[in-house]
Formats: sequence, C-alpha cells, structure tokens
Amino acid sequence: MSTATSDEKHVNRRSILRSKRGRIILAVIAFIVICAAVIPAVVVTTLRKKNNMGPKSKVFVPLYVYPAPGAWTPLENVISTHPDVNFTVVINPGNGPGPDQLPDANYTREIPNLASYANVRLLGYVHTSYAQRNISLLRRDIATYAAWPTVSSNPHLAVRGIFFDETPQQFSDQALGYLQNLTDLVKGLKGFGPNGFVVHNPGAIPDSRYLSSADSTVVFEGTYGMFQERQRAQLFAGIPNSTRGQLCAVIHSVPESQDGSALRGLVKDARNMADEIFITHLDTDYYANFGGKWTEFVDLMAE
Ligand SMILES: *[C@@H]1O[C@H](CO)[C@@H](O)[C@H](O)[C@H]1NC(C)=O
Ligand SMILES: *[C@@H]1O[C@H](CO)[C@@H](O)[C@H](O)[C@H]1NC(C)=O
Ligand SMILES: *[C@@H]1O[C@H](CO)[C@@H](O)[C@H](O)[C@H]1NC(C)=O
Ligand SMILES: *[C@@H]1O[C@H](CO)[C@@H](O)[C@H](O)[C@H]1NC(C)=O
Ligand SMILES: *[C@@H]1O[C@H](CO)[C@@H](O)[C@H](O)[C@H]1NC(C)=O
Repeated sequence: MSTATSDEKHVNRRSILRSKRGRIILAVIAFIVICAAVIPAVVVTTLRKKNNMGPKSKVFVPLYVYPAPGAWTPLENVISTHPDVNFTVVINPGNGPGPDQLPDANYTREIPNLASYANVRLLGYVHTSYAQRNISLLRRDIATYAAWPTVSSNPHLAVRGIFFDETPQQFSDQALGYLQNLTDLVKGLKGFGPNGFVVHNPGAIPDSRYLSSADSTVVFEGTYGMFQERQRAQLFAGIPNSTRGQLCAVIHSVPESQDGSALRGLVKDARNMADEIFITHLDTDYYANFGGKWTEFVDLMAE
C-alpha cells in the first residue's frame, strides 16, 4: 500500500508538471514565492524612506510674539497636534524679563498654557552684548525669571532655563569665565526645575572652547541664502558629529518657492547638523510671526 501511494504521488506530480492547469498552478506558486521575498524588502525600503530625514531634532522657536489674545495659537496648535515633537520656546517679555517682578497679564495668562505641555521647554531671553554687559544686571534678570513661580504662586508660570543672546565667537578667558558664571547661576536656581537649560547665541560657529559652557549653541542664525553659502563652503562639515546634540540652527527668509521636496531637503540638512532647528519663510519680523509654511515645517520635523 505504501508503494502504491508513493507511485500515485509520482504520477500526480508528473501530470501536474505536464498539464496546462499544472503550469498555471506553478506560476501562481512562483508568484507567491516571489511576493513573499519581495514584499518585506519593499516594506523595509518604505520605512527607511520615512526615516531618511535623519535624526530627530527639536523645533526651536524664538517667540518674540506679543501674547495678545490668540497670538500664540498657531504655536499651541502645532504643539498639541505633534506630541512626538519637542519644542524649545524662547520668550522675551521686554528685552529680558522686563522691569517688574512679573510680566504683564497677557504673559501671565499665556505662559502657563505653553508650560503645561509635556513636549515644551520654555526659556527666558537675556542678552550679554558679547559678554560686555554688566554681569550683575544679567544675574538680576536671570533671578527674576527664576522667581516667577514663587512670586506668582503659580508653578506653571515658569521657564526652564535661559537663552543668552549675543554671546561672543572669539575666545577670551574673561568671556568664558563670564559665561560660565551665568551658566552656574542658571544650574543652581531651583526656579528653573531640576535641569536649568542654557542656550548661547553667537549666531555662528564660535570658538569650540565655549561649547561646553552651554547645553546648546546657535551655530547658525541667518537667511536661507547664507545657510546655502556656508553649506557650499563646507563650514558645518567641520563641526564634529559628536556635538550635533549641542547645536541649534535658525534659518529665516527661506524663499516661498522652497516648499515640498525642497523644504524637505532643507529640513533634512538642518536635522543632520543640529538638534534644535527653526526654519521660517518670513523675511521681515521673522521671530514676531508665523509664516505660511509653519505647519509644513513642523510636519517635516515629526517624520
Ligand atoms: C523629547 O522629550 C522627551 C522628554 O524630555 C525625551 O524623552 C525625548 O527623547 C525627546 N525627544 C527628542 C526627539 O528630543
Ligand atoms: C493684552 O493685549 C491686548 C491686545 O494687544 C491689549 O489691548 C491689552 O492692553 C493687553 N493687556 C495688558 C495687561 O497689557
Ligand atoms: C553693574 O550694575 C550694578 C547694579 O546695578 C552696579 O552696582 C555696578 O556699579 C555696575 N557695574 C558697572 C561696572 O557698571
Ligand atoms: C559671578 O559673578 C558675580 C557678579 O559679578 C560675582 O559676585 C561672583 O563671585 C561670580 N562667581 C564666580 C564663581 O565667579
Ligand atoms: C559626520 O558624519 C557624516 C555622515 O554621517 C560624514 O559624512 C561626515 O564626514 C562626518 N563629519 C565629521 C566632521 O566627522
């Protein structure tokens, strides 16, 4: 019986190979085998394509927009619709915290709203005038920001660090001591929470000895045209890749024509070089408004 069965199978197989129906069945099997081999490769390629934007970066926002009712809504909208994107937002009530212990009622209403999002880190603005400004005045401004939650009795009326505008590019021991003194102050003040965050803005690549005195440094602030020029000159290529996590890039005046795949390419380039990025198509008052492609930019940051 066993022999007969095996012979029958043999005959069946042979006839399948020979019949037209058999060839069709074989073609179908071959098709399925090929699909099984190819589909995973296609899926992997598609996933890679989605990720080929490079490493994830945070959206950096110099929010020099007065919080008239509704004025910060375009920012709140993208923050709430992109919970997987982190935002570092600089607020500047009056070229610093302003003259009073607390900023005005529009700020005290809007700051706690922004601060309540888990994906937002707020920073307070001060300027150092290239490390020439009276350091006592800076220390006072920083202490003012740090005291907001206690003075207002509102833990959400708070920033989590300081953005130092106009820091030097050229090295001097004195300037480094000055900046380190201020960083130590930020790190020590409880009003900024457990990890007071420090950003320096020299606006260009500074002497590398300054980098470690901040958590992040703005190594480019300028127009799209300037960014292109510096890329062509390979200026950013010289920055060690290991410092990417400490770098920020601010690109404004992007031509309106740069959208779709061109904007995607720009975001990708910026993401490869810096951990915090701001890109706007506005070419005037570019920190005081949100451009028409604001949402498109944030969408690309989420990929
Ligand atoms: C966003 O922030 C969260 C919480 O701080 C952190 O765990 C996460 O790694 C951040 N993601 C990016 C892309 O920075
Ligand atoms: C808040 O902003 C509105 C609109 O700009 C303004 O009219 C109002 O005076 C501001 N409130 C305060 C307390 O400054
Ligand atoms: C810096 O500011 C403090 C506080 O206002 C003042 O006492 C000091 O004289 C100033 N120092 C300089 C060098 O202007
Ligand atoms: C930081 O600067 C302040 C104000 O000039 C000064 O009193 C303090 O001693 C400095 N701290 C350090 C560690 O240099
Ligand atoms: C950084 O990494 C990129 C590729 O990931 C490489 O092309 C580039 O040469 C590296 N730059 C430096 C300065 O090491």
